[in-house]
Formats: sequence, C-alpha cells, structure tokens
Amino acid sequence: MHESVLLEEAITSLHLQEDSIAVDMTLGFAGHSSEILKRVKKGYLFAFDQDEEAIAYSKQKLAAIGSNFEIIDANFANCKIELAKRGITQVNAILYDLGVSSPQLDRDYRGFSYHQDAILDMRMDHDNPLTAEIVVNTYTEQDLQRIFWQYGESKYAKAIAHKIVTHRKQQPITHTLELVDIIKSAVPIQYRLKKHPAKQIFQAIRMEVNHELDVLATSLQAAFDLLAVNGYLAVITFHSLEDRMVKQLFKQKSEIDPIVKGMPDIPPEKLPDFKLITTKGIKPSAEELDHNPRSHSATLRVIQKIK
Ligand SMILES: C[S@@+](CC[C@H](N)C(=O)[O-])C[C@H]1O[C@@H](n2cnc3c(N)ncnc32)[C@H](O)[C@@H]1O
Repeated sequence: MHESVLLEEAITSLHLQEDSIAVDMTLGFAGHSSEILKRVKKGYLFAFDQDEEAIAYSKQKLAAIGSNFEIIDANFANCKIELAKRGITQVNAILYDLGVSSPQLDRDYRGFSYHQDAILDMRMDHDNPLTAEIVVNTYTEQDLQRIFWQYGESKYAKAIAHKIVTHRKQQPITHTLELVDIIKSAVPIQYRLKKHPAKQIFQAIRMEVNHELDVLATSLQAAFDLLAVNGYLAVITFHSLEDRMVKQLFKQKSEIDPIVKGMPDIPPEKLPDFKLITTKGIKPSAEELDHNPRSHSATLRVIQKIK
C-alpha cells in the first residue's frame, strides 16, 4: 500500500479551518486527502487524479469520513477549468504530492517498474497518445540523451542513448525488461553493483511521457490564481528539477519587484502577493526516513497568499 510522505508536515502547513475549501491535486490513495477531509467538516474537498484504481479506492476511503468531497478525474493542469465548471474560483488550501504512488509503481502492466516485465507504456492518462515505447523507439539519439541527462540526471545518458539506438535498428524495443538489459549493458559493472542503473532512466522516460514538468508549471500558475487571500499552497516534490521549479516560482512570487526594491515608500500594489513560508524546503524526519524509503528525496515547500 502507498505510505504518504510528509503527511503531518503537509497537513499542518495548509492551516485548514472547518469551513476551508481545499484542493488535493494528487489524490493517490487518499492519505493526505483523508486528513484534509477530517479537518474541513463544514468545508469541501476537491481531489484530482487520473488513475482509475486510485480514484476507485479513494472514493470509498473518503466516503467513510464524509460526503463533502468530489473526486475530479482530470489532469491537474486543467484544475482551473474543472473547478470553474463547479462554480469554484477561489480556494483556501492547495496540496501537491507529486510523482507516482507505490501501487502504480508495482502494477506490472503499466510498465513503470524496472523489476517486472511489461509493455513499455508509462502513461498516467490513457488518452495520452505518447507512450514509453514511442519515446524509446522514435526519439533521436540526441533527444534520448537529453532526457536521460536532464530528467534522469544519469551520467551514462550518452552511452545508454547510443545502446538503445543501436539495438532498435535490429528490432523495436517493446518490453521493460528488454530495456533494462540494454541499459545494464551500457553502464560499467561497478556502477551496476552500487545502484540499479534503470531507476533514473525509467524516471526520465516517465517524466517525458507524461510531460510532467510542463504540466506542473501550468498547474502551479493556476494554483497561484485560485488561492484566496490567506490561503496556503504546499508542494511535495521528489525530483530535483521539480523542486527547483517550485523553489524558483515561489521565490519570484514572494519577492519585491526589483524595480521598486530599496525605495523608501513602496506603493502597496508593488508589494508581493505571496509570503514564502519555507525559506528552506522541509525534509522528512529521521524517523520517517527510517521506515519509508520513498521519502528520501522528498521536499515540502509552502507559500501563503497575503493580498
Ligand atoms: C504520490 S501519489 C499521491 C499520494 C497521496 N498524497 C496519498 O497520500 O495517498 C501522486 C498521485 O498523483 C497523480 N498524478 C500525478 N500527476 C498527475 C496529474 N498531472 N494530474 C492528476 N493526477 C496526477 C498520480 O496518478 C498519483 O496517484
């Protein structure tokens, strides 16, 4: 089962009131959503996901707590439109807990896992026309190298991209374990003994297939608009590029316009709309790190709308 990361820290940071309207952008298995729903007894929870299994499971779990919630089966990039359809333009709390859940990783037929054989799919949304198989078999060597380097931060990006392109000239690469073997053959044996060489490459392909960075950037801009004054936005990331994006956007939003910075009387409209709550990202406690290996790369960042 999925074990929620930074659960207490994230929920506390949202400063929920009984009548808060809250949005969980990444419902998953409703670990965070359950805690939110318990706290917004007279408010409402909207929760996004596009994973059928997660939605079906969480619907029941949340229904046992209350009825003041709606699960929205949509990409969180469309949160503003989806909420507007329901007459919602302002909310008091927004949470993101990014990435994939443990059950998603374990489901062999999705091709997210490098431990089980499956067709190369990796789509979180089945209407997405791009699959991992298309990425692996049609992207140029340079593009493969770029995504392995940028999203996977793999120092063997070049060698792995080259091996893939050589291999697919003989026959298309269709299965996860086939890809794992190709990746293994491209890295030195000493490296293979230290860490699984496919981990970063699978992550990179998943991020490419699901356009994860673009979708996050679009959604965060919508979240800034949706937040009501005094509302809190909390984001848990698991990847350095995502964390960098969140950190930079939060900094931009909470800084004084450089044109007026240092002026003795700054006009109120030039003051930032947001206050940075976490100057340094919050990391999981030693205890959480001990019992939940998934939490190792997690960082929580929080911002508040102040005007
Ligand atoms: C790490 S899990 C969330 C776990 C959840 N907080 C819990 O405690 O059970 C992330 C979830 O977000 C969903 N997700 C990821 N990207 C999404 C997107 N762009 N739109 C909607 N849901 C997304 C995934 O399907 C997954 O179920």
